Amino acid sequence: EGADGTPVPTVKRPVSSVGVVGTGTMASGIAQVFAQAGYDVVYVGRSQEKLDGVVGYVTKNLDRAVAKGKLDEAGKDAVLARLTGATEREALADVDLVVEAIAEDLDIKLELFRDLDRICKPGAILATTTSSLSIRACADATARPADVIGMHFFNPAPVMKLVEVVTTEATDPDVDETVRALCLATGKHPVSCGDRAGFIVNALLFPYLNDAIKLQESGAASMETIDTAMKETKLPMGPFELLDVVGNDVSLAIQETLVGAFGHEGWQPAESLKQVVAEGRLGRKTKAGFHTY
Ligand code: 3HC
Repeated sequence: EGADGTPVPTVKRPVSSVGVVGTGTMASGIAQVFAQAGYDVVYVGRSQEKLDGVVGYVTKNLDRAVAKGKLDEAGKDAVLARLTGATEREALADVDLVVEAIAEDLDIKLELFRDLDRICKPGAILATTTSSLSIRACADATARPADVIGMHFFNPAPVMKLVEVVTTEATDPDVDETVRALCLATGKHPVSCGDRAGFIVNALLFPYLNDAIKLQESGAASMETIDTAMKETKLPMGPFELLDVVGNDVSLAIQETLVGAFGHEGWQPAESLKQVVAEGRLGRKTKAGFHTY
Protein backbone atom coordinates (compact mmCIF):
# COMPACT_ATOMS: atom_id res chain seq x y z
CA GLU A 1 0.00 0.00 0.00
CA GLY A 2 1.01 3.60 -0.62
CA ALA A 3 1.03 6.32 2.03
CA ASP A 4 -2.64 7.20 1.44
CA GLY A 5 -3.80 3.58 1.76
CA THR A 6 -4.32 2.99 -1.95
CA PRO A 7 -2.51 0.07 -3.65
CA VAL A 8 0.84 0.98 -5.24
CA PRO A 9 0.22 1.13 -9.01
CA THR A 10 2.19 -1.01 -11.45
CA VAL A 11 2.96 -0.43 -15.13
CA LYS A 12 0.36 -2.35 -17.15
CA ARG A 13 1.39 -0.98 -20.54
CA PRO A 14 5.19 -0.84 -20.82
CA VAL A 15 6.53 2.65 -21.56
CA SER A 16 10.10 3.33 -22.67
CA SER A 17 9.63 6.24 -25.04
CA VAL A 18 7.59 9.38 -24.46
CA GLY A 19 6.37 12.02 -26.90
CA VAL A 20 5.80 15.60 -25.78
CA VAL A 21 3.80 17.97 -27.98
CA GLY A 22 4.40 21.67 -27.40
CA THR A 23 7.41 23.87 -26.73
CA GLY A 24 6.21 26.22 -23.99
CA THR A 25 7.15 26.26 -20.32
CA MET A 26 5.05 23.23 -19.37
CA ALA A 27 6.07 21.12 -22.38
CA SER A 28 9.76 21.93 -21.83
CA GLY A 29 9.51 21.04 -18.14
CA ILE A 30 7.67 17.78 -18.86
CA ALA A 31 10.25 16.78 -21.49
CA GLN A 32 12.95 17.40 -18.88
CA VAL A 33 11.14 15.31 -16.25
CA PHE A 34 10.95 12.23 -18.49
CA ALA A 35 14.46 12.60 -19.93
CA GLN A 36 15.90 12.93 -16.42
CA ALA A 37 14.04 9.79 -15.36
CA GLY A 38 15.73 7.84 -18.19
CA TYR A 39 13.01 7.82 -20.87
CA ASP A 40 13.70 8.60 -24.51
CA VAL A 41 11.74 11.73 -25.35
CA VAL A 42 10.55 12.94 -28.75
CA TYR A 43 9.31 16.52 -28.52
CA VAL A 44 7.33 18.13 -31.29
CA GLY A 45 7.13 21.85 -32.07
CA ARG A 46 6.15 24.02 -35.00
CA SER A 47 9.61 25.35 -35.88
CA GLN A 48 13.29 24.68 -35.28
CA GLU A 49 13.43 27.92 -33.30
CA LYS A 50 10.78 26.64 -30.89
CA LEU A 51 12.55 23.27 -30.58
CA ASP A 52 15.76 25.13 -29.72
CA GLY A 53 13.83 26.90 -26.99
CA VAL A 54 13.07 23.55 -25.31
CA VAL A 55 16.76 22.59 -25.33
CA GLY A 56 17.59 26.04 -23.96
CA TYR A 57 15.12 25.63 -21.09
CA VAL A 58 16.34 22.15 -20.15
CA THR A 59 20.02 23.12 -20.53
CA LYS A 60 19.56 26.11 -18.22
CA ASN A 61 17.97 23.93 -15.54
CA LEU A 62 20.63 21.22 -15.87
CA ASP A 63 23.41 23.83 -15.75
CA ARG A 64 21.94 25.07 -12.48
CA ALA A 65 22.02 21.52 -11.11
CA VAL A 66 25.64 21.13 -12.28
CA ALA A 67 26.60 24.44 -10.64
CA LYS A 68 25.08 23.18 -7.38
CA GLY A 69 27.04 19.90 -7.61
CA LYS A 70 23.83 17.84 -7.98
CA LEU A 71 24.68 16.61 -11.48
CA ASP A 72 27.94 16.14 -13.41
CA GLU A 73 28.61 17.10 -17.04
CA ALA A 74 28.29 13.46 -18.17
CA GLY A 75 24.88 13.25 -16.47
CA LYS A 76 23.79 16.47 -18.13
CA ASP A 77 24.91 15.22 -21.56
CA ALA A 78 23.06 11.94 -21.00
CA VAL A 79 19.79 13.77 -20.28
CA LEU A 80 20.18 16.02 -23.33
CA ALA A 81 21.03 12.99 -25.50
CA ARG A 82 17.67 11.43 -24.64
CA LEU A 83 15.84 14.44 -26.15
CA THR A 84 14.99 14.34 -29.86
CA GLY A 85 13.19 17.27 -31.47
CA ALA A 86 10.86 17.05 -34.46
CA THR A 87 8.73 19.51 -36.40
CA GLU A 88 6.40 16.78 -37.73
CA ARG A 89 3.86 14.98 -35.55
CA GLU A 90 4.58 11.80 -37.53
CA ALA A 91 7.69 11.48 -35.31
CA LEU A 92 5.28 10.28 -32.59
CA ALA A 93 4.35 7.10 -34.50
CA ASP A 94 6.32 4.72 -32.26
CA VAL A 95 6.20 6.31 -28.79
CA ASP A 96 4.44 4.49 -25.95
CA LEU A 97 3.02 7.62 -24.30
CA VAL A 98 2.26 11.10 -25.63
CA VAL A 99 1.84 14.05 -23.27
CA GLU A 100 0.48 17.13 -24.96
CA ALA A 101 1.02 20.61 -23.53
CA ILE A 102 -0.05 22.88 -26.40
CA ALA A 103 -2.31 25.96 -26.25
CA GLU A 104 -5.16 25.87 -23.73
CA ASP A 105 -7.82 26.04 -26.43
CA LEU A 106 -10.29 23.21 -26.99
CA ASP A 107 -10.42 23.43 -30.79
CA ILE A 108 -6.62 23.31 -31.01
CA LYS A 109 -6.50 20.32 -28.66
CA LEU A 110 -9.24 18.46 -30.57
CA GLU A 111 -7.37 18.93 -33.84
CA LEU A 112 -4.25 17.50 -32.15
CA PHE A 113 -6.08 14.48 -30.73
CA ARG A 114 -7.53 13.67 -34.16
CA ASP A 115 -3.95 13.74 -35.47
CA LEU A 116 -2.59 11.61 -32.61
CA ASP A 117 -5.34 9.07 -33.30
CA ARG A 118 -4.17 8.86 -36.90
CA ILE A 119 -0.44 8.80 -36.13
CA CYS A 120 0.20 6.90 -32.88
CA LYS A 121 0.60 3.13 -32.69
CA PRO A 122 -2.20 1.03 -31.18
CA GLY A 123 -1.97 0.85 -27.39
CA ALA A 124 -0.11 4.14 -27.02
CA ILE A 125 -1.36 6.22 -24.08
CA LEU A 126 -2.54 9.70 -25.09
CA ALA A 127 -2.33 12.19 -22.22
CA THR A 128 -3.25 15.86 -22.05
CA THR A 129 -1.88 18.27 -19.50
CA THR A 130 -4.82 20.62 -19.91
CA SER A 131 -5.53 22.46 -16.68
CA SER A 132 -9.24 23.05 -17.15
CA LEU A 133 -10.61 21.68 -20.43
CA SER A 134 -12.64 18.47 -20.75
CA ILE A 135 -10.59 15.27 -20.97
CA ARG A 136 -13.65 13.48 -22.33
CA ALA A 137 -13.89 15.93 -25.23
CA CYS A 138 -10.26 15.15 -26.14
CA ALA A 139 -10.95 11.40 -25.78
CA ASP A 140 -14.01 11.60 -28.02
CA ALA A 141 -11.96 13.28 -30.76
CA THR A 142 -10.26 9.87 -31.16
CA ALA A 143 -11.48 6.38 -32.02
CA ARG A 144 -9.70 5.15 -28.87
CA PRO A 145 -11.15 7.08 -25.90
CA ALA A 146 -10.02 4.27 -23.53
CA ASP A 147 -6.39 5.31 -24.16
CA VAL A 148 -6.91 8.99 -23.30
CA ILE A 149 -6.19 10.44 -19.85
CA GLY A 150 -5.37 13.73 -18.13
CA MET A 151 -1.88 14.21 -16.67
CA HIS A 152 -1.91 17.67 -15.15
CA PHE A 153 1.56 18.84 -14.17
CA PHE A 154 2.24 22.04 -12.24
CA ASN A 155 4.57 24.90 -12.99
CA PRO A 156 7.57 24.58 -12.77
CA ALA A 157 7.16 20.93 -13.80
CA PRO A 158 10.70 19.80 -12.92
CA VAL A 159 10.20 21.01 -9.34
CA MET A 160 6.52 20.50 -8.49
CA LYS A 161 5.85 16.89 -7.47
CA LEU A 162 2.09 16.93 -7.84
CA VAL A 163 0.41 15.44 -10.93
CA GLU A 164 -3.38 15.27 -11.13
CA VAL A 165 -4.28 12.07 -13.00
CA VAL A 166 -7.69 12.63 -14.55
CA THR A 167 -9.75 9.72 -15.82
CA THR A 168 -13.04 9.77 -17.71
CA GLU A 169 -15.70 7.08 -17.72
CA ALA A 170 -14.08 5.79 -20.90
CA THR A 171 -10.50 5.52 -19.57
CA ASP A 172 -9.09 1.97 -19.44
CA PRO A 173 -8.12 1.21 -15.79
CA ASP A 174 -4.78 -0.15 -17.08
CA VAL A 175 -4.05 3.29 -18.59
CA ASP A 176 -4.88 4.98 -15.28
CA GLU A 177 -2.68 2.57 -13.33
CA THR A 178 0.21 2.82 -15.79
CA VAL A 179 0.18 6.62 -15.69
CA ARG A 180 0.13 6.68 -11.89
CA ALA A 181 3.03 4.21 -11.85
CA LEU A 182 4.94 6.39 -14.33
CA CYS A 183 4.42 9.40 -12.09
CA LEU A 184 6.05 7.52 -9.22
CA ALA A 185 8.87 6.37 -11.53
CA THR A 186 9.61 10.01 -12.41
CA GLY A 187 9.57 11.12 -8.76
CA LYS A 188 6.11 12.67 -8.93
CA HIS A 189 3.16 12.38 -6.56
CA PRO A 190 0.00 11.39 -8.49
CA VAL A 191 -3.48 12.14 -7.19
CA SER A 192 -6.60 10.77 -8.89
CA CYS A 193 -9.36 13.11 -9.89
CA GLY A 194 -12.54 13.01 -11.99
CA ASP A 195 -13.00 14.99 -15.21
CA ARG A 196 -14.29 18.26 -13.77
CA ALA A 197 -13.27 21.82 -14.75
CA GLY A 198 -10.21 22.85 -12.72
CA PHE A 199 -9.79 19.35 -11.24
CA ILE A 200 -8.74 19.77 -7.58
CA VAL A 201 -6.03 22.41 -7.43
CA ASN A 202 -7.12 24.96 -10.02
CA ALA A 203 -10.75 24.81 -8.88
CA LEU A 204 -9.58 25.98 -5.46
CA LEU A 205 -6.48 28.03 -6.37
CA PHE A 206 -7.73 30.32 -9.17
CA PRO A 207 -10.74 31.84 -7.38
CA TYR A 208 -8.22 32.75 -4.64
CA LEU A 209 -5.76 34.28 -7.16
CA ASN A 210 -8.58 36.19 -8.88
CA ASP A 211 -9.88 37.46 -5.52
CA ALA A 212 -6.37 38.67 -4.69
CA ILE A 213 -6.47 40.89 -7.79
CA LYS A 214 -9.91 42.23 -6.85
CA LEU A 215 -8.65 42.97 -3.33
CA GLN A 216 -5.83 45.03 -4.81
CA GLU A 217 -8.27 46.78 -7.19
CA SER A 218 -10.44 47.73 -4.21
CA GLY A 219 -7.53 49.76 -2.83
CA ALA A 220 -7.40 47.79 0.42
CA ALA A 221 -3.74 46.82 -0.02
CA SER A 222 -0.95 46.90 -2.61
CA MET A 223 0.23 43.90 -4.63
CA GLU A 224 3.46 43.80 -2.64
CA THR A 225 1.62 43.83 0.68
CA ILE A 226 -0.75 41.08 -0.41
CA ASP A 227 2.12 38.91 -1.68
CA THR A 228 4.03 39.45 1.56
CA ALA A 229 1.01 38.74 3.76
CA MET A 230 0.19 35.46 2.01
CA LYS A 231 3.79 34.27 2.06
CA GLU A 232 3.76 34.82 5.82
CA THR A 233 1.07 32.13 5.93
CA LYS A 234 3.77 29.79 4.55
CA LEU A 235 2.53 29.71 0.98
CA PRO A 236 5.76 29.71 -1.10
CA MET A 237 4.66 32.64 -3.30
CA GLY A 238 2.21 35.51 -3.02
CA PRO A 239 -0.74 35.54 -5.43
CA PHE A 240 0.70 38.17 -7.82
CA GLU A 241 4.06 36.39 -7.90
CA LEU A 242 2.30 33.09 -8.63
CA LEU A 243 0.08 34.63 -11.33
CA ASP A 244 3.23 35.85 -13.06
CA VAL A 245 4.78 32.35 -12.83
CA VAL A 246 1.70 30.62 -14.22
CA GLY A 247 1.18 33.26 -16.94
CA ASN A 248 -1.63 35.78 -16.86
CA ASP A 249 -3.04 34.55 -20.19
CA VAL A 250 -3.23 31.01 -18.81
CA SER A 251 -4.74 32.30 -15.56
CA LEU A 252 -7.41 34.28 -17.41
CA ALA A 253 -8.30 31.24 -19.54
CA ILE A 254 -8.64 29.04 -16.45
CA GLN A 255 -10.76 31.60 -14.61
CA GLU A 256 -13.06 31.97 -17.64
CA THR A 257 -13.40 28.17 -17.84
CA LEU A 258 -14.36 28.01 -14.16
CA VAL A 259 -16.97 30.74 -14.60
CA GLY A 260 -18.31 28.95 -17.67
CA ALA A 261 -18.51 25.63 -15.84
CA PHE A 262 -19.90 26.75 -12.49
CA GLY A 263 -21.28 30.23 -13.16
CA HIS A 264 -20.44 31.83 -9.81
CA GLU A 265 -20.96 35.58 -10.33
CA GLY A 266 -18.13 36.39 -7.87
CA TRP A 267 -15.68 34.44 -10.00
CA GLN A 268 -15.77 36.81 -13.00
CA PRO A 269 -12.14 37.55 -14.03
CA ALA A 270 -10.73 40.65 -12.36
CA GLU A 271 -10.48 43.74 -14.62
CA SER A 272 -6.72 44.12 -14.07
CA LEU A 273 -6.18 40.50 -15.13
CA LYS A 274 -7.88 41.19 -18.46
CA GLN A 275 -5.90 44.42 -18.77
CA VAL A 276 -2.43 42.95 -18.20
CA VAL A 277 -3.22 40.21 -20.74
CA ALA A 278 -4.45 42.77 -23.29
CA GLU A 279 -1.19 44.70 -22.79
CA GLY A 280 0.89 41.56 -23.35
CA ARG A 281 2.14 41.61 -19.76
CA LEU A 282 1.83 37.83 -19.43
CA GLY A 283 4.18 37.33 -16.49
CA ARG A 284 7.74 36.07 -16.12
CA LYS A 285 7.79 34.71 -19.65
CA THR A 286 7.43 38.25 -21.07
CA LYS A 287 9.57 39.83 -18.30
CA ALA A 288 6.55 41.79 -17.07
CA GLY A 289 3.18 40.92 -15.60
CA PHE A 290 1.85 42.26 -12.33
CA HIS A 291 5.49 42.61 -11.31
CA THR A 292 8.43 43.55 -13.58
CA TYR A 293 11.38 41.15 -14.00
N1 3HC B 1 12.52 25.40 -13.45
C1 3HC B 1 13.22 24.35 -12.95
N2 3HC B 1 13.70 24.33 -11.69
C2 3HC B 1 13.48 25.40 -10.92
C3 3HC B 1 12.75 26.52 -11.38
C4 3HC B 1 12.28 26.49 -12.71
N3 3HC B 1 11.57 27.49 -13.24
N4 3HC B 1 12.69 27.42 -10.38
C5 3HC B 1 13.32 26.89 -9.33
N5 3HC B 1 13.81 25.66 -9.64
C6 3HC B 1 14.51 24.73 -8.77
C7 3HC B 1 15.81 25.24 -8.26
O1 3HC B 1 16.86 24.94 -9.15
C8 3HC B 1 15.94 24.47 -6.96
O2 3HC B 1 16.40 23.16 -7.25
P1 3HC B 1 17.24 22.31 -6.18
O3 3HC B 1 16.39 22.17 -4.97
O4 3HC B 1 17.50 21.03 -6.89
O5 3HC B 1 18.47 23.08 -5.92
C9 3HC B 1 14.52 24.36 -6.45
O6 3HC B 1 13.70 24.54 -7.60
C10 3HC B 1 14.19 25.43 -5.43
O7 3HC B 1 14.47 26.69 -6.02
P2 3HC B 1 14.93 27.99 -5.21
O8 3HC B 1 15.54 27.56 -3.91
O9 3HC B 1 15.73 28.85 -6.12
O10 3HC B 1 13.60 28.79 -5.01
P3 3HC B 1 12.34 28.52 -4.11
O11 3HC B 1 12.68 27.75 -2.89
O12 3HC B 1 11.70 29.83 -4.00
O13 3HC B 1 11.45 27.58 -5.01
C11 3HC B 1 9.55 27.44 -6.41
C12 3HC B 1 10.95 27.98 -6.26
C13 3HC B 1 9.60 25.92 -6.34
C14 3HC B 1 9.06 27.87 -7.80
C15 3HC B 1 8.66 27.98 -5.26
O14 3HC B 1 8.70 29.35 -5.28
C16 3HC B 1 7.22 27.51 -5.34
O15 3HC B 1 6.90 26.41 -4.88
N6 3HC B 1 6.31 28.35 -5.90
C17 3HC B 1 4.90 28.02 -6.08
C18 3HC B 1 4.74 27.21 -7.33
C19 3HC B 1 3.31 26.78 -7.50
O16 3HC B 1 2.46 26.85 -6.63
N7 3HC B 1 3.01 26.27 -8.71
C20 3HC B 1 1.67 25.83 -9.06
C21 3HC B 1 1.04 26.89 -9.92
S1 3HC B 1 -0.57 26.39 -10.47
C22 3HC B 1 -0.27 25.49 -11.87
O17 3HC B 1 0.83 25.28 -12.28
C23 3HC B 1 -1.49 24.92 -12.55
C24 3HC B 1 -1.46 25.19 -14.02
O18 3HC B 1 -2.61 24.54 -14.59
C25 3HC B 1 -1.55 26.64 -14.36
